[in-house]
Amino acid sequence: MDAQTSFDRYAISYEEKFNRNPLGRFQRRQVRDFLFPWLQGRENILDVGCGPGSDFEFYRLLDCRLTAIDISEQMTRLAKEKALRLRMAARIENSGIEEFSVDEKYDAVVCNFGVLNAVENLPVALAKIRSLMTENGVLVAVVMPPLQITELITGLLRMRRETVRRLFGRKAQTGEGFNFRYIRKTDLEKKFKISAHRNLGVLLPAPDRFAATAFWKSWSRVFLPFEKIISRIVPAWLGGDHVCYILKPEPDEEVQA
Ligand SMILES: C[S@@+](CC[C@H](N)C(=O)[O-])C[C@H]1O[C@@H](n2cnc3c(N)ncnc32)[C@H](O)[C@@H]1O
Repeated sequence: MDAQTSFDRYAISYEEKFNRNPLGRFQRRQVRDFLFPWLQGRENILDVGCGPGSDFEFYRLLDCRLTAIDISEQMTRLAKEKALRLRMAARIENSGIEEFSVDEKYDAVVCNFGVLNAVENLPVALAKIRSLMTENGVLVAVVMPPLQITELITGLLRMRRETVRRLFGRKAQTGEGFNFRYIRKTDLEKKFKISAHRNLGVLLPAPDRFAATAFWKSWSRVFLPFEKIISRIVPAWLGGDHVCYILKPEPDEEVQA
């Protein structure tokens, strides 16, 4: 199954499943607090894989010129409805990053919550993003890494093959048959240099798991206060549900030579 079909199916339940439950809200708040100083004052922002407009309130706060694209028709429709509700004058297009074509360049490109895990060809997508950025621009990449401690422990206890595949093979498939990859920092470092990072959900389950069982709800209540401290100090390789990277473009090869 391709990304467009898969996310078209997800669109209706996406906000409820990922954005409205306590862990989803917590992670998004962490990302916004971390990003604010990096994005404040940047005029022209591109939100790649905007989903149902999950971050539109945040962009309104930043008072920027927003362009948002998504490969899924249904996600784009929801994003347009949300922009209308918020009375935002954003340009919103149904397009994959690979085909997206504009004349302007962006001060910041944001790929929030797993967009880069879902693209078909990561180097192609990163090269395209790089070409859309100003020299002083920043890329925000919030990606799912190969290591998530709670997933690893529960997966090993249950002897789940996917757990080993996540850690070493890095490939995965959703229940519906959509293929995606887990991303290490070295995958991003070919065209970009990492300026900062923040790990998210190091000790916690993924937001959709939280809603699933009483066990994860109790676990989250116990570990949430520690998470606030831990997530700020751990190295990127320790992973989590997501890792948020701030990246700056490396100079083009011709310029380096
Ligand atoms: C996990 S959702 C994240 C949505 C949103 N960024 C958020 O923070 O909630 C990933 C989104 O990326 C979109 N997507 C996947 N591949 C894409 C591509 N090649 N170009 C643009 N959008 C893509 C999907 O349709 C989906 O809406």
